[in-house]
Amino acid sequence: MPRYALITGASSGIGLALAEALARRGQALILVARQRDALESIAYELAQRFGVDVLFRICDLSEPLQLSGLLHELEQSGRQIELLVNNAGFGSGGAFVEQDWSREQEMIELNVLALARLCHAIGGQMARSGGGQILNVASVVGFMPGPWMSNYYASKAYVLHLSEALRCELKRHGVKVSVLCPGPTRTAFFRNASVEATRLDGSKLMMSPEEVALITVKALRRNKAIIIPGWRNRLMAWSPRLAPRWLVRWIAGRANRSVLPLR
Ligand SMILES: NC(=O)c1ccc[n+]([C@@H]2O[C@H](COP(=O)([O-])OP(=O)(O)OC[C@H]3O[C@@H](n4cnc5c(N)ncnc54)[C@H](OP(=O)(O)O)[C@@H]3O)[C@@H](O)[C@H]2O)c1
Repeated sequence: MPRYALITGASSGIGLALAEALARRGQALILVARQRDALESIAYELAQRFGVDVLFRICDLSEPLQLSGLLHELEQSGRQIELLVNNAGFGSGGAFVEQDWSREQEMIELNVLALARLCHAIGGQMARSGGGQILNVASVVGFMPGPWMSNYYASKAYVLHLSEALRCELKRHGVKVSVLCPGPTRTAFFRNASVEATRLDGSKLMMSPEEVALITVKALRRNKAIIIPGWRNRLMAWSPRLAPRWLVRWIAGRANRSVLPLR
């Protein structure tokens, strides 16, 4: 039986591009997301094009019971996961207290809790079996607080810090942990977050998901701890360390306000 890469949020954007880049290298895949039609055709297409085994599972990862079901099924199947890619996530824009709480809670369930639980369950199996690799998808925004996208920025700070810490803990068990921190990437993310991305379209900051995936797959081979695609994004990620916190908050808040339909 082949060993699989399990990719969450593989039905579009960065997750789909990572699935393609890995399949191209002969990696067997288990794709997870909510949209059955999309996953079905992606799985079929990747298997046909690259001759690899591609399975898919429908799961709303923000629903703890569905996530339990997925983990139970994986355990029963005996399929071995050699690479876990925690990519599924979304953002929301606007003043935190004016947002619909159920949507904010869903974001924490998906971006934070589901990711932590998958790291715990699958990372635990990897540690017991003596090897494996985990890639968590955070963001450059994980390096700073983000007024008017507060919960999203905070969720990505969690992903960044959890990943770095797990890298140290799991190293002695032969499990490698990396964290991907993309900058603006041309996907459905902005539309789903009610962010006006047309202003970013002409910007040199905007990358394609395929570019991000290519850089990521190469960096994974080198077991890089923090993967930030593109020098502009690296500058955006590291500059908050040099600037005073009030300035970082102010710049992030202004940048968010300029792309959000705020009153
Ligand atoms: N685009 C950017 O500028 C950018 C920048 C930095 C970081 N990121 C991060 O990159 C990751 C991928 O986002 P993207 O830009 O590729 O956006 P995207 O195209 O909207 O992809 C999001 C993926 O997550 C899946 N998903 C959403 N909710 C889910 C749920 N409850 N359960 C299971 N799967 C779910 C979606 O599939 P279904 O709808 O089929 O469930 C989709 O496959 C996210 O973590 C995002 O925060 C994006």
